[in-house]
Amino acid sequence: MTAGKARGLGERMVAPFGRRLCRVTRNLRSGGYRIFSAVDPAGPEPSAGQFYMLAAESRWGGDQGRPYLARAFSVADAEPESGGVRLDFLVQAVGPGTARLAALEPGEEMWINGPLGRPFSAPAEVATEAAGAILVGGGIGVAPLAIWRRRLLRAGVPARVLLGFRDRANSGGLDLFDCSEIRLASEDGHTGHRGYVTDLLSVLLEGDDAGSAAVYACGPPAMLEAVRVLCTDRGVGCELAMEAPMACGFGACFGCAIPQSNGGYMRLCVDGPVVRGDEIETALVPGSGH
Ligand SMILES: Cc1cc2nc3c(=O)[nH]c(=O)nc-3n(C[C@H](O)[C@H](O)[C@H](O)COP(=O)(O)OP(=O)(O)OC[C@H]3O[C@@H](n4cnc5c(N)ncnc54)[C@H](O)[C@@H]3O)c2cc1C
Ligand code: FES
Repeated sequence: MTAGKARGLGERMVAPFGRRLCRVTRNLRSGGYRIFSAVDPAGPEPSAGQFYMLAAESRWGGDQGRPYLARAFSVADAEPESGGVRLDFLVQAVGPGTARLAALEPGEEMWINGPLGRPFSAPAEVATEAAGAILVGGGIGVAPLAIWRRRLLRAGVPARVLLGFRDRANSGGLDLFDCSEIRLASEDGHTGHRGYVTDLLSVLLEGDDAGSAAVYACGPPAMLEAVRVLCTDRGVGCELAMEAPMACGFGACFGCAIPQSNGGYMRLCVDGPVVRGDEIETALVPGSGH
């Protein structure tokens, strides 16, 4: 498939073999986070919900040897442009890898491997009667919902957006949404509803038409678990974009294994990161979320 060719919602794109070098084209502040972009010269256009393993070409592995492995990043937007596909990422600096990526300057290079993993599915695939979408994002987890909203919009699928943040420092990424009809929540009350984003979801799901939309969520484990429970209780289909510590990103190390609801384990990098709510017993995955 060539970059730019129209594809169906939720089609999984497979990564070309090996990693490749991309040139960084911009790095902007977005609230307490940063948005950085790079042009992928050889990869396919990713699907919403997929991720890349990223590493800066220089100053990756300093005196202490950290960061060493590439870090997993959800793609926040992707558009074909001259020379390849522009990939946008949203980053919160929480450790050595994310701090280095957040400091990338235009003209620098970065290694990428992707697009990886299972993307979001169209609403009718999540629940047969669902024709619209409710997107629920928390903190840095708003990233994959930005590209998903754009893809849904392009396909003519109505999408309502609910985003929540802990406080001003731990918020950002609204520039990626480019729309005014977002409903916001913040735990410290600096913007929108004072409280959790799941309070807003709970109100929406009280409506008679709740079953006409599928819910898509990405955020900290406690938020994802609250979304999963709310949707299960009300019989609403949902998909969750989850995180687990990932060393390889393509199924080889088993470091990202999480329990499934029907017994056994799934590798979140190949069987996720997007999973249906009924595929897992809990979204409270040890070692995930920050
Ligand atoms: C599929 C996927 C998509 C992701 N998308 C994004 C994104 O779009 N933007 C973004 O900023 N981050 C994203 N992350 C999280 C990011 O990959 C981790 O925060 C990163 O590995 C941290 O690296 P570090 O070297 O900066 O910090 P580390 O030293 O590795 O860790 C710093 C802190 O983050 C915690 N942490 C480490 N790894 C993870 C992890 N995988 N998940 C949650 N917490 C972790 C640690 O417990 C520690 O508290 C994603 C993770 C996954 C698995
Ligand atoms: S990160 Fe290695 S198997 Fe999933």
